[in-house]
Amino acid sequence: MDSITSYKKYVFQETPEEFGGNLVHFFEKVLAEYLDYDIVQMNTQGFGNVYYILNTDLMRELIAKNSSKMIKIPHGNKVLERFIGDSVFVSNGTVHKNQRRWMNPVFNKKQMDQLTDGIAECTQSFIENWKDGEEIDGLSSMMELVIRVIVTNIFGSHDKNLDLISRTLNRLLQVFATPRPLTAEEEQEVEELIVAFDEMVYSGIKLRKTAPEQYNDLLSMLITAQNNSESAQGTEQEIRNNIGTLFLAGYEATATTLIWTLYLLASQSEMDQKLISELNQVLDGRPPELTDVPDLLYTNQLLLESMRLFPPSYQIGRKVTEDIELPGETVSEGSVLLFSQYIMHRHPRYFSHPLDIKPERFSREFIGQLDNYAYFPFGLGSRICLGKDLSLVMLAIMTAVIAKGFRFELANDHSVEPLTLTTLIPKDKIHLIVRKR
Ligand code: HEM
Repeated sequence: MDSITSYKKYVFQETPEEFGGNLVHFFEKVLAEYLDYDIVQMNTQGFGNVYYILNTDLMRELIAKNSSKMIKIPHGNKVLERFIGDSVFVSNGTVHKNQRRWMNPVFNKKQMDQLTDGIAECTQSFIENWKDGEEIDGLSSMMELVIRVIVTNIFGSHDKNLDLISRTLNRLLQVFATPRPLTAEEEQEVEELIVAFDEMVYSGIKLRKTAPEQYNDLLSMLITAQNNSESAQGTEQEIRNNIGTLFLAGYEATATTLIWTLYLLASQSEMDQKLISELNQVLDGRPPELTDVPDLLYTNQLLLESMRLFPPSYQIGRKVTEDIELPGETVSEGSVLLFSQYIMHRHPRYFSHPLDIKPERFSREFIGQLDNYAYFPFGLGSRICLGKDLSLVMLAIMTAVIAKGFRFELANDHSVEPLTLTTLIPKDKIHLIVRKR
């Protein structure tokens, strides 16, 4: 690609009020008023000079050519620091590069059959508890399901550790969503959970080191990958921090993708019909397996469309650590660059009729020519989600099992607004009535 030579920039004289609180209001303002611009810039209290980049050539110029001049925005959260340390999700520079290098083989497509073993069964046993006509709280229910699946991925089964892990993760997510500092008592309570989590992971590591042949789960794969790589530090703490990261990174994002997908199915009956007819045809009554996933064309399209309109990660932020030159201006050190999936996925320059809900738009041809800076639910460049391939397979298998067993109706017909917390969640709970097929 040639370097970009010119672009249009809009500068807010004052921070727009929509920038505080639910960012969806700010995104909608940009989508309504500033789509002709390539950059929207403003000075903010918390972040200083902020640039929203709305042009994929500019994004490429910044991310592909200047990634060494930016870092992830420091989170400054003591609890997160305690839980995941300097793991792959937050580290920068050489530490980050080394961690990607040794962890990459674990998420390799070749390992996928081991990692996805048990997902269909786990999902089936979860939905068997639903009674025909019952009303469920969609997001809570999907979180309960996803944590079972991820614990099974990581520890091979979820019998022993599920309760402690769910309590720890749910408490941590509450802490991250609370703007005020924790009281001493709350700090103590969170610390106790994390200590118990540590003990569980360290004892899991010990068991796998003593009898490696008995285990075939993500934790054992991480231990093997660490042993096989010179880029790893080689400590058990390094493994433990990255286990904490995999839980946090995968849990809420996967659950929110599922609730938005069920919401689409509940509100658009023709989508549900297309989905079930594909599932009947491809699976013919048996549970889905890894090898079925490429044939579940509509299922995959539905998930891609759901993540287009309701991307769990709604924006990616980077702090500039060294001046970056763009034509006509310098993006100075300390500025913040923001790349918003919510905005770009709804940008008419990249998606025709962006507000139409149309899974079929993700045809093979369209995906082939899709600019991956315009559609990036799993992130961009050297920090792209490590669990991307795994997530796509997990989501397809879970969606297939759920939809084969049940269809969904919205329990109340109020409009659904997204809210930007740690992920993009429904602002008000989505209650669903489950109907047995
Ligand atoms: C639908 C589900 C998921 C979505 C939408 C998602 C999205 C993302 C995004 C946008 C990033 C980049 C963040 C940034 O650049 O600042 C990311 C990073 C990451 N994700 Fe995911 N993720 C999902 C599931 C998972 C799962 C299941 C795992 C692991 C089991 C996982 C592990 C990671 C890790 C380790 C990183 C850090 C990569 C790095 O910084 O180098 N994710 N994810």
